[in-house]
Amino acid sequence: MGTGYVGLVSGTCFAELGHDVVCVDKDKAKIDGLKLGTKVPIFEKGLEDLIKNNQARGRLDFALDISGVINESDIVIVAVGTPLDAKGRTNFDYINQCVSEIVVHAKRDLHVIIKSTVPVGTCDSIQKRFDQESSCAINVVSNPEFLREGEAVQDFLLPDRVVIGSELENRGVIDELYRELSNRGVEILYTNRVTAELIKYASNSFLAAKVAFINEIADLSESLGGDIGDISRGMGLDKRIGHKFLNAGPGFGGSCFPKDTKALINTGNDHGVELPLVGAISLSNEMRHKQIVKRIKKMVRVSEEISVLGLTYKAGTDDIRCSPAINIARELSAQGFKLRVHDPKGIAKAKKELRNMVSYYDNLYDAAKGTSLCVVATEWDDYKNLDSEKLANYMKKRHIYDLRKVINNESFVKSGFKVMVVGYRSE
Ligand code: UGA
Repeated sequence: MGTGYVGLVSGTCFAELGHDVVCVDKDKAKIDGLKLGTKVPIFEKGLEDLIKNNQARGRLDFALDISGVINESDIVIVAVGTPLDAKGRTNFDYINQCVSEIVVHAKRDLHVIIKSTVPVGTCDSIQKRFDQESSCAINVVSNPEFLREGEAVQDFLLPDRVVIGSELENRGVIDELYRELSNRGVEILYTNRVTAELIKYASNSFLAAKVAFINEIADLSESLGGDIGDISRGMGLDKRIGHKFLNAGPGFGGSCFPKDTKALINTGNDHGVELPLVGAISLSNEMRHKQIVKRIKKMVRVSEEISVLGLTYKAGTDDIRCSPAINIARELSAQGFKLRVHDPKGIAKAKKELRNMVSYYDNLYDAAKGTSLCVVATEWDDYKNLDSEKLANYMKKRHIYDLRKVINNESFVKSGFKVMVVGYRSE
């Protein structure tokens, strides 16, 4: 249930592992496009081919609701969104709708896997609802996902681990779901539901902490004249620390880290447990784009134009949710700056968010035309290969602010640019 980033990737990959899967979503245009093979609603490396192959093999189908398929299914997987509401609390509407539909339509015993990221204790509450409202024996299992957007297919088929939280000793068909991965040597961690839910939040918050930490060190490195690349490398060589998630940047974004750190704080509050460290991760990240805007304002006047290259929250996705680039653009626009923006994949979604606050360009050099500062906000390959001479000819002033440490510094300096890079003192 749910064909967003998690549902569509998981459904398709379960088909790839040999299961018969029907992906269900209420959005008719989405389901029609998927069924006819004309439109994959998200950009995710390798996904389109996998969908086509598994449709052709007859293992993957799409439907508008579960009524026609639930009683031929052994397992229902819930992978709908759990956004935060205006008060910063988890919105359970989609989850509750799924549970209600299962109660109405299930006429046989089932396992219901909750893949959506849900606050700790949710699976137990859902179990209670099924026990009270359904005449069938429905077993709720927590099976959090650890898929990075952009790498989701690979993360699914070659995961570091699979976590299964179940209260049943005999999990039956649940064990079959990941049999193929387990045969390939993937570690399957069996635990109880609460623990599985907590593993998800703890993992995301820990990774978010690494990013927030290196960003704070980047600020210090910037003012002390350090080299943040070497600092990350030097830290990461210690195997206890590791290299991953130590790239300084404009702050973490996306639909997971910002939301999950906040949800973990809420869980602590609800249970009277203080989590000052988790609170600091969230705070540190929220301050980040404001500091970046402050630095930008030192480089350009409001009458000058700025180009922003990259709008998605990271490369490899068309997702702009909680994107630092979008936050920076919004803040600069609110302060009166005129912005020209480019992104290889994120423009359609950005238009819905930024509307006419900025001007959009398909060609990155056109976006830079006449601007006095170019801000590189996402680590797309297109920006790694930026032609400094060409950019110089398009821009009014030669100023570039690299928030991802991707441009070729030397060539920009040679082309007469004033270069600012996150984590380095500017010349
Ligand atoms: C994250 C987790 O990595 C997944 O394991 C998890 O399943 C997923 O959330 C989820 O809960 O659904 P994702 O949000 O796709 O995946 O993105 P990440 O690759 O983790 O990056 C998150 C943010 O941190 C991005 O804005 C990225 O640019 C930033 N980041 C990451 C850095 O600034 N530096 C780094 O070194 C790494």
